[in-house]
Amino acid sequence: MAQGLDVGTMNILSARQDGNDTVFVQQRNSFVEIDYSDMAEQMLSRSDVLHIRKDNKVYIVGDDALNFANIFNEETRRPMEAGILSSDEQSAIPMIKLITEQVVGEPERPGELLYFSVPADPIDGDVSTLYHQKTIESLLADMGYEPEPINEGMSVIYSELANQEFTGLGISFGAGMTNVCLSYYAVPVMKFSIARGGDWVDEQAAKATGTPVDKVTSIKEEDFSLDFETDVGGVEGALSIYYDNLLDYVIEMIIKEVDEEDVEEGLDVPVVVTGGTSSPDGFEELFKERLDDAQIPFSISGVQQAENPLYSVAQGALVAARSEEQRATQEQPAEEAAEVENE
Ligand SMILES: Nc1ncnc2c1ncn2[C@@H]1O[C@H](COP(=O)(O)OP(=O)(O)OP(=O)(O)O)[C@@H](O)[C@H]1O
Ligand SMILES: [Mg+2]
Repeated sequence: MAQGLDVGTMNILSARQDGNDTVFVQQRNSFVEIDYSDMAEQMLSRSDVLHIRKDNKVYIVGDDALNFANIFNEETRRPMEAGILSSDEQSAIPMIKLITEQVVGEPERPGELLYFSVPADPIDGDVSTLYHQKTIESLLADMGYEPEPINEGMSVIYSELANQEFTGLGISFGAGMTNVCLSYYAVPVMKFSIARGGDWVDEQAAKATGTPVDKVTSIKEEDFSLDFETDVGGVEGALSIYYDNLLDYVIEMIIKEVDEEDVEEGLDVPVVVTGGTSSPDGFEELFKERLDDAQIPFSISGVQQAENPLYSVAQGALVAARSEEQRATQEQPAEEAAEVENE
C-alpha cells in the first residue's frame, strides 16, 4: 500500500487507504520547549503526549504543544515558516522528524511508496524549496519509505479534479503560502507559489489592530466569515480587509505568470480552491467575485471549493502514490517477460 503526506507550515497530515475509506492522521506542525521538572515529568508520564527530553529541557510537539504552552506560559514554536523548513529555528529538523514519524507511522513494508507535498518556489521571494524538499525526503527514507515529492498544487488537481480529467487550476491557500498549479490532462503546465497565506493575514490584522497574533488566529478560525458586514475597527474587519487583499494579490500573480509562461490561448478550465485559509464562509463567493472583476487571460468554466480544505493535499498525494504503485505493478510482469526474452 502507498501513502500520501501533506507537509504544511501549520499542519502535517497523512492519508492511507483502508478498504473504501481514506484514513487521515493529523498533527499541528508546532512544538513548545519547557524546563524539565517533576511536575512536567508527572504530567507527561501519565499521558500519551508526544514529547522528547533533551538534557534539562522537554519538547512537546504536535497538537498538545499549544495546551502545554498555555499551562507553562511559553510560546509555541514552528519547524516551518512560509512553506519550508525555518532557517531561524535550530530545532526544526528533529521536531519535524518526530511529528512526521507519528503521522506516517511505520512503513507497511520496507520501501513503501510515499508521496509528500512540496511547495513550488515562490515568485515573490528569493527562497528555494530544494533544501526543504531534500531534507524531508531523507527523513522519510530513513524511516524506511520510498519518498517521492509531489507539487502541492498538483496534489489539489489529483484530489479534486479527477472527474474533469485532471485539467484545471488548483489553488491551495495554506498558512505560509498559496500554491497554484495549472494542469492539462494531468500534466502541470504552470506551477508557482506565493509567499502569502493565512499567517500573513493574521500578522497584518494583528499589526493593524494591536492584537496578539495568536488571538487573531483563534478569532479567524472560530467564527469568522467573509460576509461583507465589516466590523470597522475590529479584528474581524481587519481580517476581511487582508483576505480581500490576499485574493487580489493571488489573482494578480496568476495573471502575471500566465502572461509570462505563454499559456495556450483559448483555454477554458475549472478552478478549485482549498487549504485551511479557504475555510471561512463566503470565501468561494468572494474569490469568484474577484476573478470576475479581473482581466484573466483565459476563461474559467467554474469555481469550486474542496469539501475538506484541510485534507485535500494529503488526499491528492495518496491518489498520485496509488496510481504510480498500480502502474508499477502492471508494468512489472511485462518487464520481467522482456528480461526473460532477452536472455
Ligand atoms: N476555520 C478556519 N477559518 C479560517 N482559517 C482557517 C480555518 N482553519 C484553519 N485556518 C487557517 O488555515 C491555515 C492552515 O491551512 P493549511 O493546513 O492548509 O496550511 P498548511 O498546509 O499547513 O500551510 P502551507 O501549505 O502554507 O505550508 C492557517 O492559516 C489557519 O489559521
Ligand atoms: Mg498546505
